[in-house]
Amino acid sequence: MKKLATLSICAIALALHSPAAPTFTVDASQSAGKVSPRLYGLMTEEINHAYDGGLYAELIRNRAFLDSATAPVNWELVDDSGAEATMALDPTNSFNDKLTMSLRLTVTKAAKNHAGSVANTGYWGIPVQPNTRYRATLLARSEAGFTGPVTVSIVSDDGRLVYASEQFKGLAADWKKFEVVLKTGKVTPTTKARFQIALDQPGTVWFGLVSLFPPTWNDQPNGFRKDLMQMLVDLNPKFLRFPGGNYVEGDTVETRFDWKKTIGPIEERHGHPCPWGYYSTDGLGLLEFLAWCEDMKAEPVLAVYAGYSLKGAHVNPGPDLEPFVEEALEEIEYVTGDTNTTWGARRAKDGHPAPFKLTYVEIGNEDWFDKSKSYDARFAQIYDAIKARYPQLKTISTFGNDQPESTHVRSRKPDMTDEHYYRSVDTFLHMSPEFAGKYDRQGPEIFVGEWAAYETSFPPWDKRSQKEPPTPNLNAAIGDAAFMAAMERNSDLIKMQCYAPLFVNVNPGGRQWRPDLIGYDAISAYGSPSYYAFQMFSRNLGDEILSTASLETAVQGCATRDGQTGEIFLKLVNPQATAEPLNIKIKGLASVASKAGAVTLTGKPDDSNSITQPGRIVPVATTVRGVKADFIYTLPPHSIVVLKLKSGS
Ligand code: AHR
Repeated sequence: MKKLATLSICAIALALHSPAAPTFTVDASQSAGKVSPRLYGLMTEEINHAYDGGLYAELIRNRAFLDSATAPVNWELVDDSGAEATMALDPTNSFNDKLTMSLRLTVTKAAKNHAGSVANTGYWGIPVQPNTRYRATLLARSEAGFTGPVTVSIVSDDGRLVYASEQFKGLAADWKKFEVVLKTGKVTPTTKARFQIALDQPGTVWFGLVSLFPPTWNDQPNGFRKDLMQMLVDLNPKFLRFPGGNYVEGDTVETRFDWKKTIGPIEERHGHPCPWGYYSTDGLGLLEFLAWCEDMKAEPVLAVYAGYSLKGAHVNPGPDLEPFVEEALEEIEYVTGDTNTTWGARRAKDGHPAPFKLTYVEIGNEDWFDKSKSYDARFAQIYDAIKARYPQLKTISTFGNDQPESTHVRSRKPDMTDEHYYRSVDTFLHMSPEFAGKYDRQGPEIFVGEWAAYETSFPPWDKRSQKEPPTPNLNAAIGDAAFMAAMERNSDLIKMQCYAPLFVNVNPGGRQWRPDLIGYDAISAYGSPSYYAFQMFSRNLGDEILSTASLETAVQGCATRDGQTGEIFLKLVNPQATAEPLNIKIKGLASVASKAGAVTLTGKPDDSNSITQPGRIVPVATTVRGVKADFIYTLPPHSIVVLKLKSGS
């Protein structure tokens, strides 16, 4: 594991039996079921500035001036320049029918060193890194007679330091695209910077779009932040559930995730208000979601809009729903179709001729909020259409075991149901030992499509939780780990699970929900203890479930075995404030290698990670000696431990 610190001293398993030690038994004599190969994945939507101001590497906030109809928010006139200038939104001079607004900059008095300038403050700062190339793209036109030059720069907040600067000219009455590369030199990394556009002579220029990208993951244009992508890849996810969550539904039918409006060149994307209270550029659109999956070697789990939006509107099943059914079928064609299909050809035109693998389609999101109770009929209509055209696809209903049985979809049998669990740490610790054990093994497969333990007094949707740190502490990670162990024990039925939300921009105003797995500002990112717990679970996984039983202990756990190598992955969670010497018994194994690997996450339960202290709670890898088929292992207080046991002597 990349992020693990390795202890030089080996931890020693206690060889002597303590009569008082409670037992944890693993039955290795037979497999108790298959581990789902897709068990660990990710859930994502535009919340907490997950994309704009997060994974999507665009640095200019309000790049198309559409965030507000009344003011050029996040843009300001630079008033310390000694020049005379004005700026205003101008809907009468728009680039096209998608970018329907422009920013007009008029400079009436200017001179060298006293240029009229506007500046963008980015998503809580522009990240400046040394020796880095930033790609600026501007759509601009000018009043007759003004051809430039225009100077674009990355400067310090106070304007005193110029980190990088370039000029372009050739402006004309018609709209043109200008591309400029800004190179920084030897600078100290900072976010206290802004992007500035300056005219050093009088004139009027309209900007339809101003974009600035740093180097991206795999150098993809319109791509992703490198540090965040690396953190996701390190989680070894097998699927990505997108685009929501609430984001697929939107507040209204009109502001749903209207996928066709999210493809093509960015100057063809109008964006839309996202249900989490800010404007989404749609820069991270359907094809970017799919590329994101490809980059992580994960499969898409595509949620399609199913006719219900958050403020209560629903589309009546029957003819009214038909256009949305067609929209969903076309979306599936865009994802999976050959290039001889209409939407497969469009995907190729957009830059990706190869179809994507798709197995699961989720029909809606949390439709239990629909008071009209229309989901059963809406589900049936969409289910029938999908099965008729794509019989190989599996459908997911948004009603699962977390909803009353009487409300479940009745008129069709969904292939899978999506259940959401946001619970307190205590609730998770209490419910996990028995979780899913009694579920009908003949019923639909289960997808735990959203879950998280919260350690504070308030559930995630309660505004009061906003006062708490954005990411969870170790105590929450312990609740998470107990629940993950339960899901792993039942992964013959629970085929996929993903923590939610994935991302949070930690700046004040950046978030709408806590707790979140990964926190970041414009320049740094860190994993919460829950992130590391998830990583420990997802990266240490066999393909067979082994039965486990714990006696006289609060310790919870699970075990899987790699059928090929014989390696056993034993996951143990000690929620107690005291160390627990545990008598681990591996039944049905002739011999166990005396040396095992251990990965431990432990610390004070209230401790957490943050931008300034990203490494306070991180997993530590050690070697354990003296391991046998029946041995004592002492779990630290408040700990999550993965033991990797090999057969042999
Ligand atoms: O994960 C945050 C939100 O919680 C999701 O958008 C929604 O599906 C759930 O209510």
